[in-house]
Amino acid sequence: MKSIPVAIVTGGSRGIGKAVAHELASLGYRVQLVARSRANLEAAREEIAAAHHLDAEAAPDIYAADVSDVAAIRAVVGAVKERWGRIDLLFNGAGISIPGTFDLDPATFTRLFEVNLRAPFVFMQEVVPIMEAQGSGRIINVASRNGKVAVANLGGYSASKFGLVGLGESAFRDLSAKGISITTLCPGWVNTDMAAGEGASLAPEEMIQPEDVAATVRWLLSLRSPVRVMDVLLECAKDVERRGSVEIAKLYALRNRHPEEYDSLTL
Ligand SMILES: NC(=O)c1ccc[n+]([C@@H]2O[C@H](COP(=O)([O-])OP(=O)(O)OC[C@H]3O[C@@H](n4cnc5c(N)ncnc54)[C@H](OP(=O)(O)O)[C@@H]3O)[C@@H](O)[C@H]2O)c1
Repeated sequence: MKSIPVAIVTGGSRGIGKAVAHELASLGYRVQLVARSRANLEAAREEIAAAHHLDAEAAPDIYAADVSDVAAIRAVVGAVKERWGRIDLLFNGAGISIPGTFDLDPATFTRLFEVNLRAPFVFMQEVVPIMEAQGSGRIINVASRNGKVAVANLGGYSASKFGLVGLGESAFRDLSAKGISITTLCPGWVNTDMAAGEGASLAPEEMIQPEDVAATVRWLLSLRSPVRVMDVLLECAKDVERRGSVEIAKLYALRNRHPEEYDSLTL
């Protein structure tokens, strides 16, 4: 009998992680949600169970844990392995965004690294041996467009996300031969609490929707096992358009030798 696949989704209580958890539940995964707020986890479990008509056993399991705590991550992975005996998919979605670069105090800089980079690293460290023993598995990490192109005043966040892109690229080369695929998602603005809290320059409907990220996950899972995708960059059309027009204006300012105008145009 074919076993039911098991997926750990960190950040599964809200935003991108919750949309991906819905998608995975619809694909028949046993979803294991990880976040700090138990109340939000319970609400997400109820919502997902109701939407996909899941009984108590098939409804998502929830793990209230702070992913900046290494021992807590090990306990979550151990509990999932103990309960279901396998882990087929790891979706590292939990993350925080704190603006700032040199104005960040070192403790805040460290916090960004603990949540956005060390947590996915430790989850992978714990899950990879289980996937290796199974001979299969998929890992999907959420970095950001800011993990590929850094913008001003986001140095701490960007550094953590560049780190995650680099970790993913290295692991991509290590894990392929072991039957494990790993993909890093690099979205621009996504319409979630995080974007709302940051005063995004785009209207909510102009952003990527969490369901678009979930659809990207569905696409990745639809690819046959010999296919590997290292990373996926998802952009908002309005952002691409705006940057494109600024780049053209900068070229004209250069050609017309107007350095003040060139300097005033920001990407
Ligand atoms: N929204 C965007 O514009 C955007 C763009 C590019 C990349 N991303 C990345 O996408 C991922 C998801 O972002 P989102 O927009 O969905 O954010 P969100 O709406 O703020 O949700 C964040 C999720 O992560 C959990 N989380 C945060 N800190 C945690 C911690 N220390 N331990 C455990 N869980 C924690 C939150 O639950 P609790 O608060 O209850 O812990 C929540 O479930 C993040 O990695 C983010 O950097 C977002």
